Amino acid sequence: MPTLSIDDKQVTVPEGTTILKAAQGIEANIPTICYHDHCTANGLCRMCVVEVEGQRLLQASCVAKVSDGMIVHTRSEKVERARRTILEMMQSAIDLSEADAINLMADDYEADETRFNHGKPRTHPIHDDNPMFIRDYSKCILCWRCVQVCANDAQYAYAINFNGRGFETSIGTFFDKGMTETTCVFCGQCVGVCPTGALKAKREFLLQDGMTPDEIMNMTRGERRKKRTKASAEERGALTEMIEKLDGKRE
Ligand code: SF4
Ligand code: FES
Repeated sequence: MPTLSIDDKQVTVPEGTTILKAAQGIEANIPTICYHDHCTANGLCRMCVVEVEGQRLLQASCVAKVSDGMIVHTRSEKVERARRTILEMMQSAIDLSEADAINLMADDYEADETRFNHGKPRTHPIHDDNPMFIRDYSKCILCWRCVQVCANDAQYAYAINFNGRGFETSIGTFFDKGMTETTCVFCGQCVGVCPTGALKAKREFLLQDGMTPDEIMNMTRGERRKKRTKASAEERGALTEMIEKLDGKRE
């Protein structure tokens, strides 16, 4: 079994263990965003990077495997700088207002939310097309968890996937169909793993919008499907207007 050093502590773990798991075994705190214990790790967000002596690039610890004699630093200056930049880039483009865990990380790493404030925010209209949950991809960090639980990691429904390319990439359905026209079985697992509130139970959405539990109970399924929150629509409208103004200034 390989023995390695993590933050000056020796640890011996089974062959094939990831650096993240080995570090968790000695309670070294490595922050993660896209990683979820019940999903296949893909190393997408890079928040979990660590410095491995002798390797030029930082390694995503949720996918990098340990090897014998490895010397790992989980919070070196280089690591901190990388994590801070990742958080600042997220802050510049994504609505993180309901991403509590990410906001705590931003505090911890002293991320400066104004650093990339010339960046273009990623905005999308709220998808409110079924009685069970809403999709607000302006809050989406593309962590891929929802796609994975909908596919091979849990449900095998394959209702959602990536759409678009580059900056325009978003999660969506085939041909952008409404959720009720897809293979979705409304199991809610995608909502359960979403770390940012981009996917939210319709009931929670309506409660936040000021409706009472009784009012929600008295709505018919059709009414619930059609109900768009006034506040959200107004907020999104104001945001879109602001972006259009900024775009106008750049031209
Ligand atoms: S909707 Fe949520 S779970 Fe899905 S990719 Fe976006 S942030 Fe991740
Ligand atoms: S948590 Fe490892 S890359 Fe996202």
